[in-house]
Amino acid sequence: MSRLIAHATPETTLTPADLADLIRNDPKVAEQFEQAYANAMRDAGNNDGVLGPNPRTSTPAAGVAMLETTEHNLTDLIAPIIDDLVADTWTWSTADLAGDTSTVLAAVQPPASSTMFTAAQLNAAQEHTAAIASLDPSIRPQATATAMQRDIDAPTGALLASMLMHTQDENADDRVRRSFYNRFRQGLDILDLDSIAYQMIDMNPDSMSHWLPQLAAANALHQEFRIPETTIARAPLSLLQLPRLGYGALNATTHEILNRWAERVFALEPQGDYFVKTGTFSSKFDFRNARVVSPSEVAELGDYLVAIHEQALQMASPLNERIVYGAGTTTEWVVREFVPDTEDSPTIYHGLPLRCEFRVFVDCDNDTVLTSVPYWESKTMRHRFAAMEDANHPDNRHDLITYLAAEPKLKRRFKLQHRDVERRIERLLPDLDLVGQWSIDVMADGSDLWLIDMAQASSSAFFDRVPARLRQPAEDPWIAQIAHALPNWH
Ligand SMILES: Nc1ncnc2c1ncn2[C@@H]1O[C@H](COP(=O)(O)OP(=O)(O)O)[C@@H](O)[C@H]1O
Ligand SMILES: [Mg+2]
Repeated sequence: MSRLIAHATPETTLTPADLADLIRNDPKVAEQFEQAYANAMRDAGNNDGVLGPNPRTSTPAAGVAMLETTEHNLTDLIAPIIDDLVADTWTWSTADLAGDTSTVLAAVQPPASSTMFTAAQLNAAQEHTAAIASLDPSIRPQATATAMQRDIDAPTGALLASMLMHTQDENADDRVRRSFYNRFRQGLDILDLDSIAYQMIDMNPDSMSHWLPQLAAANALHQEFRIPETTIARAPLSLLQLPRLGYGALNATTHEILNRWAERVFALEPQGDYFVKTGTFSSKFDFRNARVVSPSEVAELGDYLVAIHEQALQMASPLNERIVYGAGTTTEWVVREFVPDTEDSPTIYHGLPLRCEFRVFVDCDNDTVLTSVPYWESKTMRHRFAAMEDANHPDNRHDLITYLAAEPKLKRRFKLQHRDVERRIERLLPDLDLVGQWSIDVMADGSDLWLIDMAQASSSAFFDRVPARLRQPAEDPWIAQIAHALPNWH
């Protein structure tokens, strides 16, 4: 089979399309192709994900073992920190949903606050703080319920508010106002957190808690789709700061706090099979970090969340040639049931099963479906794997050939089923309590249709497929709720 891979080099006459034909028509060839790819990956010895080191590809933190060998009893010292962080975490879960919307609303409660009441408790708390402060920085927690490490000492919230105010300056021209808006949005993703910044980030309508409770409630009335069991946790401020510090900058004590916190707020089972993401972003392009399975990975699930969130935030870094903000604008981390691939689909992006998925654009103000498009759209996928500067990378050659082999089946399935999916969505819409236009992603597996993801239509790929006369821009939540509410400032 190494011959086939050799054929895939540019000098040969066998094109990716030829290879795709061979694979499509002979499962044995498909198997050999996968084996050759696995061997090539192993021989290359490069285990870093496409986005750099991450929990799956780097050596795990020393964790508990190290904590117990230090002179301090760190396990005992961090126990109350974890308790406080858990108490301060807002969560929402599909398990809370008994089928009517009042249950959903009841579940959306502010976190219980862990207040110290008695003098003895206060004393103990002060002693605890002093013990933590005396630790060497290499083992000192970088996040507690009340303290966290920052990069620079700047008033983030005030800076962000000032940028937002400049976007409203009627004397400035549009270009200047736009630039302040861009800096504001970039700042949400890259600056150290404070409580104002946290509240601003929390306003992103694309983040899961803003739409999943509503979607789940509507679906509970109609039972048109399945929804993966899901728990959303709003990360406490100090933990949400960790992706900003960077996964690689965390010491073993901090990893331990993070991972034990995750275990409790998500009620993790060591034998679980989970799909993890932030409220707005998954590691789908390096799927090794999107799925968390096996007890050792589950024990480090918090690490996965931080690493994924860091990748999303890095897209907004000023060091990038192209700065993309928004992917990391969320306070939420999400753990979902992993939906097994019952059709044994071929995989791209290091393990993502290529299943038929539908992106349905809807208008929630007049309860209509605007259009639907194949999620793995042909032109986009071919361009991604074959027409970008990294087209010769073995991953992209593998994914191109795999995609081409699967393409006819994906197209047939979409054609056959998209009207049915649209009609099912249409039936939910009168009960879907959201404002404006949205994209809803549906994944087919066997005879099941799974509701997977939503985002505001105007920030979703393929919005241009909605006829121009039907398209509505989304209201910007920061301009609408903050900038307009600010008093006359100029
Ligand atoms: N619970 C799940 N189990 C298995 N695969 C999933 C699950 N959720 C999503 N996926 C797969 O991962 C892809 C990306 O997931 P999604 O939640 O839409 O993340 P993103 O925010 O990065 O778009 C989906 O299109 C689907 O193929
Ligand atoms: Mg998505």
